[in-house]
Amino acid sequence: MSLADVTAHWQNDPEGFWLRAAEAIDWTRVPERALDDSRAPFYRWFPDGELNIAYNALDRHVDAGRGEQAALHYDSPVTGTKRSYTYRELRDEVARFAGVLTGLGVGKGDRVVIYLPMIPEAAIAMLACARLGAVHSVVFGGFAPKELAIRIDDARPAVIVSASCGIEPGRVVEYLPLLDQAMELATHQPAHRIILQRPQAVARQTRSDVDWTAAMADAQPVPCVPVAATDPLYILYTSGTTGKPKGVVRDTGGYAVALRWTMGAVYGIEPGETMFTASDVGWVVGHSYIVYAPLLAGATTVLYEGKPVKTPDAGQFWRVVSEYGVRSMFTAPTAFRAIKKEDPDGTLARQYDLSGLRHLFLAGERLDPETYRWATELLGIPVIDNWWQTETGWPIVANPAGLGLLPIKAGSSTRPLPGWDVRVLDGSGNPVESGVDGAIVIKLPMAPGALTTLWGDDEQFVASYLSAYPGYYLTGDGGYLDEDGYLFIMGRTDDIINVAGHRLSTGGMEEILAAHPAVAECAVIGVADPVKGQVPRGLVVLKSGVDTDPAVLRAELVASVREQIGAVAALKEIDIVPALPKTRSGKILRKSMRLIADGRPANVPSTIEDPAVLEALRPVLRNS
Ligand code: COA
Ligand code: AMP
Repeated sequence: MSLADVTAHWQNDPEGFWLRAAEAIDWTRVPERALDDSRAPFYRWFPDGELNIAYNALDRHVDAGRGEQAALHYDSPVTGTKRSYTYRELRDEVARFAGVLTGLGVGKGDRVVIYLPMIPEAAIAMLACARLGAVHSVVFGGFAPKELAIRIDDARPAVIVSASCGIEPGRVVEYLPLLDQAMELATHQPAHRIILQRPQAVARQTRSDVDWTAAMADAQPVPCVPVAATDPLYILYTSGTTGKPKGVVRDTGGYAVALRWTMGAVYGIEPGETMFTASDVGWVVGHSYIVYAPLLAGATTVLYEGKPVKTPDAGQFWRVVSEYGVRSMFTAPTAFRAIKKEDPDGTLARQYDLSGLRHLFLAGERLDPETYRWATELLGIPVIDNWWQTETGWPIVANPAGLGLLPIKAGSSTRPLPGWDVRVLDGSGNPVESGVDGAIVIKLPMAPGALTTLWGDDEQFVASYLSAYPGYYLTGDGGYLDEDGYLFIMGRTDDIINVAGHRLSTGGMEEILAAHPAVAECAVIGVADPVKGQVPRGLVVLKSGVDTDPAVLRAELVASVREQIGAVAALKEIDIVPALPKTRSGKILRKSMRLIADGRPANVPSTIEDPAVLEALRPVLRNS
């Protein structure tokens, strides 16, 4: 069935469509209703359904005879380690770690923060929470203690699971000092910390810390706890326009149904086949397509610890693809730009047998036409852009490999998938003509698996996403639909930037720069970068009378962002400028500055207060 046929089925009978998709999931109480809209705009999927998603990801496959099939290959060139888990082994590990958590008093609805590098224990901890009906919140290892502390205070976990270290190229990142600092900053103190010791750095645990290995040695497996389909599975924090991250709440049943559906329809993966998603479990792509979706489908997933390049070379992705017989690969375009920079002729790729690879999926940031062409020529397979967000949990727009590919248009992620009624509106909320840029919104209700609210903050959920255009979800992206219904994303309409596929708030960085005693005002803009897509750039105006060495000040500002947000923020360039261009009402002209920095024509608004300020900045901005 083609995308057009499937979309027509969904449009004619959306609830029937998702109830049929729900048949691919094992329920302890099969849902009879698809959608509860009684509290709109708070929609709930499968309100009468009950299930356990970890059972669906693991036990069900063991019971059905897949026990000896590989569920997860851990491949870590940075530590020289490879380890595979069969479905039976992974289920047993998860059941025992769930036993460890139970022993510490964790039960249904309790939160568990997971601050782990890309090791199998991250997936085990997530699935163990799911087994108990506990709510996990994975925090990306590249975030600094302050970011971790904010998440701890918001989620109020009973337990934190962490490790002695993560590995970045050329350095071992010790996690315990970061964790200790985060707990000093946080008001909420979790009752327990479980620490996995890695041989690369043995951490000095406190007496109250629980040692992962010792606890697992004594642990008893515990059974799956059925939960309501509408119960939260996890909280995943993502950048908003200020320094306070948003706690995206994911439901259980809607997510399970939607992810299972995408594995065949979008990613073209059948049970028993292998998918390799090169991301991090700290991001939504990792939650959905390293952990949950491949396992829900009875497929094999690859959990890769390392970078695409320099660990030790730019051929590691190709080695993984050939070694594990990968059928579909998924990563961010930035990874391909990094590989292309190191191996422009694809010499390393040709050293491996990539004949089993059918599709390459790219998401997380704009797929620039040059990277699209390079990857297509290198691999000779369809390179499929897909557009989505932490909030949606799975692709909104894609070219569905399992339904028959549509012609690819470079620069477009193709057409909306069933479940998502995508519209483009102008500033007054009216639909624009095809080909005309506007705000991309989704008509409510959104598909199963989309966020149900922000953790503990229904009001903020409505204010952030649902109030700009009543009846629609505001994606925060701008772009247009062409005459064939293909969507072209042109970039964010807010202060969020995308650095190496990592979503970051420039507002959050501005808050840190502005707190420096020498800074009167500042702006952070995202400027084009050949590998990372975008990088932040700071512009600061000093308080009058400040007489600091500019080099020292710049270093202090860079260090403070690194210390407070983390190295991933990648703010390395700061310009000290005499003034910032503003409108007469005092709004800083960030967009005009960004366009000038990128060498693009900038429409200077007629409301500009003093055009000379912007003119004076041109040479500084162009000199990046
Ligand atoms: N723990 C600690 N530090 C981390 C980290 C982690 N988990 N992840 C990144 N960092 C650090 C890096 O070491 C680097 O520090 P440095 O400034 O001292 O060098 C900094 O954060 C920036 O990291 P990153 O953005 O990853 O840049 P990079 O130059 O190390 O690598 C890429 C660039 C493109 C190769 C890499 O970002 C990548 O592979 N990204 C694509 C895949 C992906 O994860 N996408 C996410 C969504 S799909
Ligand atoms: P995240 O929530 O971290 O997954 O980031 C989501 C944001 O990344 C989106 O709102 C877009 O701005 C951007 N993004 C993700 N995928 C794509 C894509 N395929 N094309 C363009 N932008 C994308």
